[in-house]
Amino acid sequence: MSPVPEKPTVLVIRTRFAELLKTIEQSAAALRIAVETEQSSTSAALSSNSDDTGARIAAEMGLSFHANLEMAGQAAVLRVASERLAQLVTPPRHVLFEASGSVVSLDRHCNDTSSFLAHYSLMYEGTLALPYWTQFLDARSSGIEPLPLSPFAIYTSNQPFYQWIHSSSPAAIGRGANFNSAMKGMSYTEGVAFLPADYPFAKFPEGTTIVDVGGGLGSLPDLVLPVAPHLKFVVQDLGAVIKQAMEGGACGEWVKKGRVEFSVQDCFSPQPEDLCGGNVFVLKTMLHNYADSQASEILTHIRAANPSQLLIIDRVIFPQLLTQASTAEAEQEIHKKLREGGAQSLTIPTMYDLAMVALHGGRERLFPEWRALLEKTGFNVSAVYPMRASTGQFIVDCVPI
Ligand SMILES: C[S@@+](CC[C@H](N)C(=O)[O-])C[C@H]1O[C@@H](n2cnc3c(N)ncnc32)[C@H](O)[C@@H]1O
Repeated sequence: MSPVPEKPTVLVIRTRFAELLKTIEQSAAALRIAVETEQSSTSAALSSNSDDTGARIAAEMGLSFHANLEMAGQAAVLRVASERLAQLVTPPRHVLFEASGSVVSLDRHCNDTSSFLAHYSLMYEGTLALPYWTQFLDARSSGIEPLPLSPFAIYTSNQPFYQWIHSSSPAAIGRGANFNSAMKGMSYTEGVAFLPADYPFAKFPEGTTIVDVGGGLGSLPDLVLPVAPHLKFVVQDLGAVIKQAMEGGACGEWVKKGRVEFSVQDCFSPQPEDLCGGNVFVLKTMLHNYADSQASEILTHIRAANPSQLLIIDRVIFPQLLTQASTAEAEQEIHKKLREGGAQSLTIPTMYDLAMVALHGGRERLFPEWRALLEKTGFNVSAVYPMRASTGQFIVDCVPI
């Protein structure tokens, strides 16, 4: 009797298992070799990475750290592949569907991203405004313009998030400062410490000014200047944030050396004249706070400042890394990409997608959505750099059209 052919779905699942296990085994083996090599090396503490940014940040935060990008990359692949394996064998509970097609299991995130959640609840004080978001999403999916205020703003009686944290009410004392410090801490725990290794900041010529729009307490210059001390940063933000940065001595050493300047600037206003013409602008973890109409307004002001370049540092949702492949071939393609080092977990960007909708009426974006937004406001994408140990961030290099 000839064997009964396997059902196609069973075949897909078998292939997924095989591919996932192969990926995990390969990365574990590579990671073990990297660890053993490092242990036997005399310069064990700081191996291939000559700058000490990551080690310094780790020391400040009391974390152990190996400044080895190979290890970080393999660990990231392991994390993503293990997450996918868990998803394959665990029936989804509390799965929420987001209008852009993002799917996330809140249950799983609550279990395995404790430091992320600690910062997150610090930042948002446990307020996710979820009861109000279907109202917003319904409006967004039917293309209503202007969009209603965010679900969070409905919850706080019409105060958008940044207004609420900086409100003058006695209940708001400390909220803004809390958010800003947590944002800085979160930048580090998200793996943003690898940013200088993943993007060639040193390529910018001596004297280049980088304008960090909505730059908070200056985490970007703190990370970049140790490896590119020839650059100069202008960190722009709301008045309350700049006051906190200056009074708290943010980027102290670099401010003294004239490499960092903090400046009050609303991103919805034109850039000051002295910053127009030939500067590099950065929007890090900014545009995901905004719906397309507001994001376009911010980008239009930057374009009008005639920059030489724009860097978007934000999450990109890549469809090819969707956690569910529908065919065995697609599953293999995902694992090929994971092994090639572009390991990005889709679940974390989609978690942020949910939060950005709820809090700000914003969104995480698919790559074509980023490109459309940028082209509409006068920028071409010239390169995309994955941030290897991040929570799905990419650096999107853009040039004015
Ligand atoms: C999500 S945080 C990102 C901070 C920083 N870029 C980072 O990645 O750590 C967004 C920042 O935008 C700032 N912001 C909000 N509204 C703004 C406005 N109208 N103009 C300038 N900055 C603004 C906030 O104060 C906050 O520092």
